[in-house]
Amino acid sequence: MTTVDAPATAATTFDLGPARALSCRECGHQVPLAAEFACGECFGPLEVAYEFGPITRATIESGPKSIWRYRDLLPVPSDVDRHPNTEPGLTRLVRADRLAAALGVKRLWVKDDTGNPTHSFKDRVVAVALAAARQLGFTVLACPSTGNLANAVAAAAARAGWRSVVLIPSSLERAKVLTTAVYDGALIAVDGNYDDVNRLATELAAEHEDWAFVNVNVRPYYAEGSKTLGFEVAEQLGWRLPEQVVVPVASGSQLTKVDKGFRELGELGLVEPTPYRVFGAQATGCSPVAAAYKAGQDVVAPVRPDTIARSLAIGAPADGPYVLDAVRRTGGAVEDVSDEEVVEGIRLLARTEGIFAETAGGVTVATAKKLIDTGKLDPDAETVLLITGDGLKTLDAVADRVGPKATVPPSSKAVREALGF
Ligand SMILES: Cc1ncc(COP(=O)(O)O)c(C=O)c1O
Ligand SMILES: [Zn+2]
Repeated sequence: MTTVDAPATAATTFDLGPARALSCRECGHQVPLAAEFACGECFGPLEVAYEFGPITRATIESGPKSIWRYRDLLPVPSDVDRHPNTEPGLTRLVRADRLAAALGVKRLWVKDDTGNPTHSFKDRVVAVALAAARQLGFTVLACPSTGNLANAVAAAAARAGWRSVVLIPSSLERAKVLTTAVYDGALIAVDGNYDDVNRLATELAAEHEDWAFVNVNVRPYYAEGSKTLGFEVAEQLGWRLPEQVVVPVASGSQLTKVDKGFRELGELGLVEPTPYRVFGAQATGCSPVAAAYKAGQDVVAPVRPDTIARSLAIGAPADGPYVLDAVRRTGGAVEDVSDEEVVEGIRLLARTEGIFAETAGGVTVATAKKLIDTGKLDPDAETVLLITGDGLKTLDAVADRVGPKATVPPSSKAVREALGF
């Protein structure tokens, strides 16, 4: 493992923009930029440390209409490889007045990340991981995935002309399997749950030095891509932070990085550093972080997932303790909802805002409802819900609940009858 004692040149070999080193979240030990993810001193997770140059709202606003407008805040070279028109980011922030009325809150926004190239926020993290992996000398893009990451890795690798190796649990939704396989990388279904697949990926990453497992050996870079969700929310609100944000939690990376993104914007003077509260959302069938939060614990005990929200089915979340930190530091909470509530959440968002989210979105909406009903979320404070994936990938969740009102012969009378006129 590389340490600070490594040759000083190692730190300057890679052009990763403002990134200067990897820093341990536990003990602060720093190592040069490399494909490392665990601290050599204490095994804590490594995170990118930066030296930011001058950044203004104007330079961001005049940048690409994608996550690359924030490239000076990410571990990527300033001349990051562009694929205009297929880049993730700058998805719509929707003022959700009808959902707000249904939930009983005043000002509500939905950040609709279904609009990304493979229809989830994972395109953001993969784009950053690929850009960093290219600088670090990798040639193969790989991941263990609960589904959306599989789509994003396979598609990004195809677009870049890279090989991909994608590992998924064999029980994954058919739509997520097919929408990965179509890109023609190597897709391997593993008999086991995500946590088994993740362990296997960690083993393979050690054995294949040219494979960049986006969420394993290049995880520090990958994770930074999630900051762009926070950056966009702030920019789209007119360069200010929302008072409350609700984020779905699987490994917990996304939640911690939205928090980090908000903090960086404040530190850099791009927004007023106004207080905000971060809330985590889980499905009860896989709610290790919510359980730890409710029990007042700092450690997250692993669980065996059993929920329809398969994209969030990570029983041993790597960033669980940091989710607890962020939520407690900002005055938020972590809550969980039943599968029944998840389906209701999907339907409520669809019925009120015309947005069809996957099960993770159902978790977010249903958790927001529960947090409001139990008084944990302030109905008078401006709130943003992160909708991170598309309902077309998890049709089974709603398949036996929705469908045609009637099947009729092609006659206007029959239609009127079916409509009860
Ligand atoms: C749609 C969707 N939302 C949210 C998440 C949670 O991401 P994280 O692992 O960063 O907590 C995932 C993870 O796969 C996901 O697929
Ligand atoms: Zn450490």
